[in-house]
Amino acid sequence: MSTTTPSAAIDAPRGLAGVIVAETAVSDVRGAEGLLQYRDRSAIELAEAADFEDAWQLLVTGEDPTDASRGAFARRIQAARTRCADDVAAAVDAVSAATPEVMAGLAAVWSLLAARRGIRPLYDLTADERLIDAIELAASTPVIVGALWRRRNGQQPLPPLSGRGLVADYLHQVTGTVADAESEAALTAYLISVMDHGFNASTFTARVIASTGADAASCLVGALGALTGPLHGGAPSRALDGLDAVGTAERIEPWIRGELAAGRRLMGFGHAVYRTSDPRAELMKRIAKRRGGARVELALRFEETAERLLAAAKPGRALHTNVEFWAALVMEQCGLPRSMFTPTFAFARTIGWTAHILEQSADPKIIRPSARYVGPPVRVRAA
Ligand code: ACO
Repeated sequence: MSTTTPSAAIDAPRGLAGVIVAETAVSDVRGAEGLLQYRDRSAIELAEAADFEDAWQLLVTGEDPTDASRGAFARRIQAARTRCADDVAAAVDAVSAATPEVMAGLAAVWSLLAARRGIRPLYDLTADERLIDAIELAASTPVIVGALWRRRNGQQPLPPLSGRGLVADYLHQVTGTVADAESEAALTAYLISVMDHGFNASTFTARVIASTGADAASCLVGALGALTGPLHGGAPSRALDGLDAVGTAERIEPWIRGELAAGRRLMGFGHAVYRTSDPRAELMKRIAKRRGGARVELALRFEETAERLLAAAKPGRALHTNVEFWAALVMEQCGLPRSMFTPTFAFARTIGWTAHILEQSADPKIIRPSARYVGPPVRVRAA
């Protein structure tokens, strides 16, 4: 009888946790120390002080913006946004008629935009041509997301705010009001802090697709799918659902105990890499506390109780708040609706994805690991 011989044993931990599968100069996450860097800069320092466009330029080009290059890069983004608004109007209308889901709409409109523009496989492009596609697609994201949100509410996209940056414009599209400086600074800090994060699941997805030589839009669509999962980018609205469910401070502990006893995860807690606090969560917490209020007080009590109960339930694991818990509070303070939390995360992360797509496409080796077959042996055909 013919059998399939089991191939090599699995030589990687579950989920590839901690396995180094590539080299990157885009960003580094040092989980034991709670450090995150973009290129040669601290991501948290950038989030606290840099312009959104400057952080974008640094991540994607690898160059620190100078007085001369900053203006050229900003003009390039602005031109791409204007072109995109015209190119996607019909697609946004069509997709909005089919679904109110902004994430699904973004994936569809990216694909349509790529087809309309004739965006070609990375394999066929020079490095300069890939950079053009990367910037055009990343610049399209806030325009598409804002337009999808407005159309699902029966509104037309608003004309760009004059004299205000990309983040203020995004807030204007989504909330319908001109943001105050505090909200603009808070959202800018959030967006920069989540622009990139090493080899997370969605970035790895983008890189696997890029390694096949596919076009950049296909890489983004794949990455976006990975981001929607509640274990990755889909957690922040669920973190607020948790706060809503407890309602008052007295109900926090019984509610969390019930969730853990039922085997459910607390959204906004734990991280695949950080074994100390998530530096982005710390930043978001500082920002949320600056504004304060009853909701923040409830969140602080929730965090303290959850960390205590998680430590008891999972001894030896360091389960703290991750960025999504406090980012949800910050986005709520900025007036963003809950259903726009993950699309807003996607808007920022698109920039990291494109930086990784560019880096990956410089290496012609396809990413193609193997799995150990554990199914039944091949059937012997009757003679
Ligand atoms: N609530 C309850 N238990 C948890 C939580 C949580 N939030 N996080 C981890 N655990 C448990 C795991 O189930 C595991 O238990 P087990 O050993 O009995 O199976 C144990 O703690 C250890 O888990 P880790 O190995 O530390 O976590 P992992 O790397 O597998 O997953 C993840 C990381 C997906 C972020 C996880 O912590 C989680 O599901 N958190 C909730 C969802 C969330 O907040 N996602 C956003 C992540 S941040 C981002 O993507 C930007």
